Amino acid sequence: MTAETRHSFLDGKIKRLLIDGRRVESASGKTFASVNPATGETLAQVAEGDAEDIDRAVEAARRAFEGPWGRTKPAERQMILLRFADLVEKHFEEFAALDTLDMGAPLSRTRNNRRRALGMLRYYAGLATTVEGRTVENSLLGGDFFSYTLREPVGVVGAIIPWNAPLSSSLWKIGPALATGCTVVLKPAEEAPLTPLWLGELALEAGVPPGVLNVVPGYGETAGAALARHPGVDKVAFTGSHITGQKIVEASAGNLKRVSLELGGKSPDIVFADADMEAAVPGAAMAAFSNSGQICSAGTRLFVEQKIYEQFTHRVAEYGRTLRVGNGLDPEVQVGPLVSEQQLERVTGYLAIGRQEGARPLAGGERLTEGALGRGYFVPPTVFADVRDEMRIAQEEIFGPVISAIPFTDIDEVVRRGNATMFGLGSGVWTRDVGKAHRLAKSIRAGSVWVNCYQAMDPAMPFGGYKMSGYGREGGQEHLEEYLNTKAVWIRTDL
Ligand code: NAI
Ligand code: MG
Repeated sequence: MTAETRHSFLDGKIKRLLIDGRRVESASGKTFASVNPATGETLAQVAEGDAEDIDRAVEAARRAFEGPWGRTKPAERQMILLRFADLVEKHFEEFAALDTLDMGAPLSRTRNNRRRALGMLRYYAGLATTVEGRTVENSLLGGDFFSYTLREPVGVVGAIIPWNAPLSSSLWKIGPALATGCTVVLKPAEEAPLTPLWLGELALEAGVPPGVLNVVPGYGETAGAALARHPGVDKVAFTGSHITGQKIVEASAGNLKRVSLELGGKSPDIVFADADMEAAVPGAAMAAFSNSGQICSAGTRLFVEQKIYEQFTHRVAEYGRTLRVGNGLDPEVQVGPLVSEQQLERVTGYLAIGRQEGARPLAGGERLTEGALGRGYFVPPTVFADVRDEMRIAQEEIFGPVISAIPFTDIDEVVRRGNATMFGLGSGVWTRDVGKAHRLAKSIRAGSVWVNCYQAMDPAMPFGGYKMSGYGREGGQEHLEEYLNTKAVWIRTDL
């Protein structure tokens, strides 16, 4: 390990699974390497969980749910979540660095996430004491019944997360699950298991009882699939690709477990000629280039009003060229590497497809291989102009820093074309015309509409998909619903 990658969590030992409050070997004894995508260097060997380990973890989670955890008071869970947030805060700089090392996002981004990550945990801590049922005035049955509802935790949650924001995605599942009184088996992505493992250890330190949060890294086809089909799991909360989302739904059929899916997108970002250009140029660029485009709601289909199309796309390309690409440990770097060699192949594959389809690269377009960059998986901010709706680079999720810029002429047309995708996660509108903004906000079929901004996120706002971007919401009051069951209680009062 080089001095650069020294980190308190990376002590040279095998990173073990966290089951029932203990660090354990995987049943198979196998391990896999977690790699720094900026350098290709192995950061740690991680125990590779598979179906047997998932069994053990689900059993532990079930015992914890049926044990004392199931009887904790909301205020106790609130205190535990607040203590957990304090511990994450204490170590936040190291968490940011661990995310940067393991998946490549620059420190400028992972550090910036501080307020939101901590805010998320504290927001769910707050919500823990707000869960309540209601008393119901029956519509037909009259006064001989006292009827009310109870809101109960769904039980054991299988949380399967991707690699593009390990800290946030972990907290986005752990927060609502613990707030409502569920227990969790968290399966991190094989590309970035380190932050979730460390979070699991800190949760214990914060007073989360053993078995309430288990962390089992492993591959999707083995550990992930075992969790998705496990009869002892009551709900799967999944974030990742729509292809895997479909597999999760199929696997869930065995015990008809609850499923929530936060999947991918090909989000339209629509720029009108009347927009504030000083805001729209960097806004549209970063909508697609942040995290090297590895964001589910990235604004990758850039619709630009015809009369400003040339000028605007050139300005976005220029902006992209000024972004500093490199190893994310350098605090000046704005765009880090892609997460893995596999993602590099995928993205460079799309760069070739774009050229074959006749799109015109205005910036980027090729992998970077000069000097130290050659050891990592670097693709520069790329803007393709002359993109047509039917091109693959306009329809498929690339998950790299690639903008497909498409001209349009009027509002109804751009709504129709913007909606002509199987996805519906994010969307952006840049205009100074308030009427136009509201009209678009209503017409776009997507879970989020950002007007004169992009990717604004807050713990209190719901986030999620329409169409093949999935179902269920994360964030906001709506999020708790995903982790709760409703029970109807009837009491006859005339006996
Ligand atoms: P993926 O969806 O396969 O992986 C996400 C998580 O699901 C990982 O933890 C993985 O181990 C797990 N998984 C994989 N197969 C599974 C299965 N059969 N059963 C249960 N769990 C399973 O995504 P991957 O392979 O990392 O990336 C491929 C593409 O997916 C990306 O290029 C991107 O287009 C999209 N993607 C979208 C994300 C989003 O946030 N919407 C996040 C990650 C990937
Ligand atoms: Mg890694």
